[in-house]
Amino acid sequence: MNVLIIGSGGREHALAWKISQSQEVKKIFIAPGNGGTHLENNIENINLTDIEDLINFAIKQKIDLTVVGPEAPLANGIVDSFKDNNLTIFGPTKAAAQLESSKEFSKEFMARHNIPTAKFATFENSLSAHEYINNNPAPIVIKADGLASGKGVVVAMTDKDAHDAVDAMLSDKLFGNAGTKIIIEEFLVGEEASFIVICDGSTILPLDSSQDHKRLLDNDAGPNTGGMGAYSPAPLVTDEINQKIMDQVITPTIEGMKKEGIEFSGFLYAGIIVDAESNIKTLEFNCRMGDPETQPILFRMQGDLFSVLYKAAKQQLHGIEIKWEDEHAITIVMACKNYPTKPILGNEIELPDTKDKNTFIFHAGTVLKNQKLLTSGGRVLGITAKGETLEIAKNKAYSVLKKVKFDGAQFRTDIGKKALN
Ligand code: AMP
Ligand code: GLY
Repeated sequence: MNVLIIGSGGREHALAWKISQSQEVKKIFIAPGNGGTHLENNIENINLTDIEDLINFAIKQKIDLTVVGPEAPLANGIVDSFKDNNLTIFGPTKAAAQLESSKEFSKEFMARHNIPTAKFATFENSLSAHEYINNNPAPIVIKADGLASGKGVVVAMTDKDAHDAVDAMLSDKLFGNAGTKIIIEEFLVGEEASFIVICDGSTILPLDSSQDHKRLLDNDAGPNTGGMGAYSPAPLVTDEINQKIMDQVITPTIEGMKKEGIEFSGFLYAGIIVDAESNIKTLEFNCRMGDPETQPILFRMQGDLFSVLYKAAKQQLHGIEIKWEDEHAITIVMACKNYPTKPILGNEIELPDTKDKNTFIFHAGTVLKNQKLLTSGGRVLGITAKGETLEIAKNKAYSVLKKVKFDGAQFRTDIGKKALN
């Protein structure tokens, strides 16, 4: 079987790494990939991003399965176009991807189907948005409607921050078209977990739980990022919480989409907040795997990911099970200087030799140029390790991280701390 993976981040390196372990897979291409996938023997980087070019490539190379990593091509309809050309692809259609690409769509969908989420209102006009904040003072949350790489959310702790966020999005067009509409929603208190399932349109196969660290700095300070580290499993997601998420969020979402005539096939990721009374609410949906959650999740997955995704793409997921290693896995993201505002790129990276099969360095923003590995994106590497306990995994990952060198590297020193307390 020949596989094509779309994307260039740490998530896609992890997907390619895991899929390459399948006995069934002969050749893996990744478009465009990164420095890490370039260095893998059995993975080939392909410098294509245009959907038409990718379709021609998939036809020519007899690709049996295409797996889409990031949200942007999904929102642009890559799945629809591949299917129109009779190519097998795993991911949601453009219509289904609206669960992520439009917060307004996703919030209204949740309201229609009684899926627990924060109270909200939608605005295109800044005067009404300011008035709404006057009547619903901070803390309050302002979100751009469209895709903004995880950076379109402002958790405003003061009214001034809330009003400023409205002006930045609606008047100053900070997020361009993604911010011509905004959502203002109730501030929720609790702890967050990431809950991801694989769906073939009807059968739902949950992955094991994980927890991300969205803020840039230790103790959840600083701006929101794409994610600075993750671990799996997340002790917050007990069997009871797991069942609640399936019953109150995941199942009604897949069934609700079907009822509305939009079948959801692909990864569905629910960002969940759990309060002190174990009530759950949905913070957001993504229609893809999380980054960096993918890295620790796949590091613990047993068996053949290719076979699961191929069956899901063929609507044959029924009866399939995934087994998980008992070990805990963790990923610590190393980002470049000035991430997430104005990343400084092009610095040389020095990596240690890691022969220990319980550690792995997934690449994200790296590129190989003239035999040199350089930083090429905000989040550069995901230092990943597993161990009998989260503590052991964490210590292993940080000891590898200490041996990685590049100028201006930023990382959190407290990944996993909440779960250890
Ligand atoms: P989102 O992209 O919607 O998941 O938001 C990014 C992050 O902002 C989340 O992971 C939360 O930490 C925070 N956030 C989003 N919505 C809320 C909310 N209603 N209340 C509190 N924090 C929120
Ligand atoms: N790590 C959060 C996300 O992938 O959206």
